[in-house]
Formats: sequence, C-alpha cells, structure tokens
Amino acid sequence: MLYQRSSQLFAEAEKVIPGGVNSPVRAFKAVGGTPIFVKSAKGAYLFDEDGNKLIDYINSWGPMILGHAFDPVVNAVIERAKLGTSFGMPTALETEIAELAVSMVPNIDKIRFVNSGTEACMSAIRLARGYTKRDKIIKFAGCYHGHSDSFLIQAGSGAITFGAPNSPGVTQGTAKDTLLAKYNDLENVAELFAANPNEIAAIIIEPVAGNMGCIPPQKGFLQALRELCDKNGTLLIFDEVMTGFRLAKGGAQELFGVKADIVTFGKVIGGGLPVGAFAARNEIMNYLAPLGPVYQAGTLSGNPLAMAAGLEMLKALHTDAGVFQRLEEKTAYLEKGIREKLTANNIKFTINRVGSMISVHFDESPVTDLQSASKGDNEYFKKFFHGLLQEGIYIAPSAYETWFITDALTYEDLDFTIKAVDKVTKQF
Ligand SMILES: Cc1ncc(COP(=O)(O)O)c(C=O)c1O
Repeated sequence: MLYQRSSQLFAEAEKVIPGGVNSPVRAFKAVGGTPIFVKSAKGAYLFDEDGNKLIDYINSWGPMILGHAFDPVVNAVIERAKLGTSFGMPTALETEIAELAVSMVPNIDKIRFVNSGTEACMSAIRLARGYTKRDKIIKFAGCYHGHSDSFLIQAGSGAITFGAPNSPGVTQGTAKDTLLAKYNDLENVAELFAANPNEIAAIIIEPVAGNMGCIPPQKGFLQALRELCDKNGTLLIFDEVMTGFRLAKGGAQELFGVKADIVTFGKVIGGGLPVGAFAARNEIMNYLAPLGPVYQAGTLSGNPLAMAAGLEMLKALHTDAGVFQRLEEKTAYLEKGIREKLTANNIKFTINRVGSMISVHFDESPVTDLQSASKGDNEYFKKFFHGLLQEGIYIAPSAYETWFITDALTYEDLDFTIKAVDKVTKQF
C-alpha cells in the first residue's frame, strides 16, 4: 500500500502545526514514518487520502465502539445542527443524557459535562481536594489522566512514548502534591498513606490501565484501594475515560464490583464528539459551583451537538442487550487467533486483555505495571506496526497503547487480521 499523499499532507501540516499534528501520539514518532491522513470512515474501516482502506483498531482512541459514522449519531448531529450549534444556556438535551448516564452507571447521582477527558480528570481532583480539604493525590506511574499539570508526572500514553513522562512547564509546586505509586502494588500505596497521614485527598486510577498498553488490575487490587481510601478519609477516583461505557454499561465499577467516589468519563460518552464528564454521589457533586464552593465551568460544556451525539451513543449501548457480550467474544476470538500465530512463529509476547481492550507486548514476562510494560521490544513493535499497515490494518502507532475493538468488526475482518499477523511475524 502506498501512503504518498499522506506524506505530502504531513509535510504541509508540519509547516503550520507543531509536529504536523494536534495531539502528539498521532505523529508516528515511536514507529517512524509519516501519519496517515484520513478522508473518511465508516463502520470498522478508515479510508485515507491515498485511497487505501484500512481496518481500524484504534477507533479514534476509543469512542467509536459501534463503528465510525454510526447512523443514529450522525443523524442526530445533523438534525441538532440545524437548530443552532451553541447557546451557552441550558437545553433539555443535557438533562436527558445526564438522566441516562446516571441510570447506567452505579453509585452516581449527578454528572457534570465538560469537553474532554483532561478537563474531567482535572476537575475531579479539584473537587476531591475541595471536598476533603487536602492537597495531595496519588496517581500510578504509567497511568494517563490527560495533560493537566498534576498528571504529567510519570504519565503514560503519548508522554511516555516520547520519553518525556514528566513535562517541562509543570512547576515543582504542583509536582510535589502528586504522589506516585506502582500500578498493582498495594504495599507501595499503603506506604504513601503512612508517609502522608491525613494529607491525601484522592487516589486517581485507570481501573484497567490502557495507557501503558492494556494492564488489568490484579485480583482484589481495586477493592483493597477502596478499603485504604475508606480507612484514610481519601476519595477514590476511577478514571473511566477509556473503560466507561466500554467494559460494561456501568463501566469498571460494575465489572469489578468496586465503588468509586468520583468517576470520570470521555471517549464513548461523546459518541465521537468532544465530551468529557465527571460524576459522583450528591454529597460530593453538591460541592461544585453553583451549588458549592469548588469552581468549574465551560463556555461550550454541554454543547448541543456533542450532547446529541453522546445521547444516541448511550441509548444504543443501553438498549442493545448483547453489545458487551459481542465485544467480548470478538476480542477473545482476535486474542486467540493472534496468540496462536505468534506462538507458531516463535515470537516472545504477552497479550493482555479486558473485554474489548487488548494489547500485544513483545516480551514474554507478565506485564503488570509501567516497569514491566517498558521491557517490550520496540524494534519488534515497529516492524509489527508497519507490517500490519502494509496489509491494510491500522493499530496504534505506539507499543504503549491499547487497541480498542469496535462492534462493527466482522469475523471476516478478524480472520483477515489474524492472517496478516501470521504473515508479518513470519518475517521477523
Ligand atoms: C484514561 C484516560 N484519562 C484521560 C484521558 C484524557 O482525555 P482527553 O484526551 O479527552 O483529554 C485519556 C486520553 O486518552 C485517557 O486515556
């Protein structure tokens, strides 16, 4: 497959956009080459500017769980746009999506909509700090919660792909309030509590980590965090930007049976439009302006086009009783197929998967935290990525990313992918 037009477009973009992209991980820096420029997408497929058709395993980094250009979402956006695109005033639509979200997710009474996952997480920790009257938070190395200052400390995803998990521009003053723990290491968290008594406002965690590849929480880990938080008067924040409305209707809280105090959302909740949200029980959410003293706002928050898209997406997931089971089965089928081919081709690998989040690590030891995720062979990954691209398969251009499976994928697509994995890794 040729990607000439994409290369030209990238050269033009580089002149006027830093690095040619509006979000770093799109830049292919970790794998080499130039990014693919998309013209359109439908269902499980991307169509690029060179006329190539690609099977998409990123799906806009998660949102397109029911496929690209999902008709109910597209139609709702078109119809809403005709009525006006932004008012900066309340609409009935906002209450409708809020009611539906609250009915789907356990343990939340109220939800506030924002424009991105970054905003959701940044607002969630402000709320937690205001509510507990404490300053410090615990985050886990390799988890990514968006690019606000408090989180760019050992962050995953793009930050780690570019070898800069700690960004210049984050002040020492801010950094000192973020305590770092190792994912899946309870003792480490307990030590932080012991060293900072009555100072920790919140633990924020990706309940299934997705920004250092996919890393499941070990059995009992989330429950043990819950207990530590209860013991220490600390709030537990589940960053469900990836897992929310993807792993189950009620996200990771439902899947693992563990209650969080604040939950953040992004990706699927906006149906592909820029939406984030954070939610909690009344006693916490009532602390937020205009009811309470913790300030948070947004000119375009609750934007009618975004709310219309999100509402249709949530409705579709709410009414389709089989969707999460189908996603599980399709992803399990893909996992089994890839496992068989990599084993047959003598590749050292570990595959991690929870529901429709999956990643292939090119190292055979278990991947349970950032340190073990970093052991993967990046040269293998580069060959794997470019090999698949040549076969018309688009996975994330970094070994530190999860693949997001869409229900639009057919079993023929999956078989095609498994065959391509075989062909590509035979040549390693
Ligand atoms: C777990 C998690 N939290 C927060 C974010 C930030 O969301 P956004 O990119 O919408 O700002 C991301 C983005 O990938 C994420 O994966």
